[in-house]
Amino acid sequence: MKKIISVTEGDGVGKEVVPEGIKILKVIDEYTELDFEFQEAPAGGAIWKKYGESLPEKSFETIKNSDALLFGAIGLSGLPQGVAEIAILKIRQGLDLYVNLRPIKLYDALKDRCPLKEEYIGNGIDFYVVRENTEGLYANIGGILRNSVAQNVMVCTREGCERIVKFAFEFAKRKGHKKVTSVDKANILKPSQLWRDIFHEIGELYPNIQKEDVYIDAFCQWLIRTPYAYQTVVTENMFGDIISDEGAFLMGSLGMASSGNIHPGKVSMYEPIHGTAPDIAGKNIANPIGTILSLKLMMQESFNQQKLGNEIENAVEEALTEGRTIDIKNPKLKTLSTKEMGDLISEKLKKRLKK
Ligand code: IPM
Ligand code: MN
Repeated sequence: MKKIISVTEGDGVGKEVVPEGIKILKVIDEYTELDFEFQEAPAGGAIWKKYGESLPEKSFETIKNSDALLFGAIGLSGLPQGVAEIAILKIRQGLDLYVNLRPIKLYDALKDRCPLKEEYIGNGIDFYVVRENTEGLYANIGGILRNSVAQNVMVCTREGCERIVKFAFEFAKRKGHKKVTSVDKANILKPSQLWRDIFHEIGELYPNIQKEDVYIDAFCQWLIRTPYAYQTVVTENMFGDIISDEGAFLMGSLGMASSGNIHPGKVSMYEPIHGTAPDIAGKNIANPIGTILSLKLMMQESFNQQKLGNEIENAVEEALTEGRTIDIKNPKLKTLSTKEMGDLISEKLKKRLKK
């Protein structure tokens, strides 16, 4: 089965972690019925400097005509605010990728790196943030007037809410989750009030799944106080942006966190959530696991390869017991470079797929 993967390395550590992702895809190409063809789709800050746009039309066409996009990170210091980052929003909006799926999972091997005391870890941290990815304050309505008035409007449409909430319940059902938590600010924001009504309307169609509403401010507290209590968490765009970074550090490092920008059945985009990390870029020390775990999501959500996705995760977990990049270092284990970590996970995956 042939799949065309478009590839955007982007800026900063994006250039280092994406090649490790490709390594993993090449292993899958060799050992399974999937065959990958790679097509570059350059985008980001360096591209803006060269061409005056961060997502050239040609790159967007390449992405549109592929089966999935593997994306690194974009952003470059010294550029006007937002000119690089807008490429991400153009891809999300342009492909109508309304789901941003962000798993937060504390692996056993990384318990020593979790910033929380054991009593707060409870029986483990393992939940998914389902972030609405096309509306809210990111809907791109707004601007700056006379260099003195600036505004963005928080957009919440019935259609937009219904589809993300429906995805969250279907996802919870698929994963066997017993509860869906909705995070909003319905005590004050009108878009949240519509959101909450729709959450319960759709929720009625899933009588076997428990529903829970939490205000965003309270949720930021509960997330570090009872992180074990969540399974599927659905929320609007900006709230999801914030809680997924907070959640990511519970995994031990932002470098571990993966994501899928998804429109079920259409071209979707998979990216680590860490960004360009300019302070460590170019040193071959970045953690490639956020990228590699994003491929787990690609296999499962775009190519319907559940087992293969789980094998990628198993290979990562196994590697974590042997070596670590510096962000998750452990004095008892070897400290690995970006490339060495990619190689180790590739070896582990090869062994699993050979069986
Ligand atoms: C993310 C990032 C982006 C966002 C930025 C870079 C546009 O922070 O993917 O979480 O705000 O969504
Ligand atoms: Mn973010």
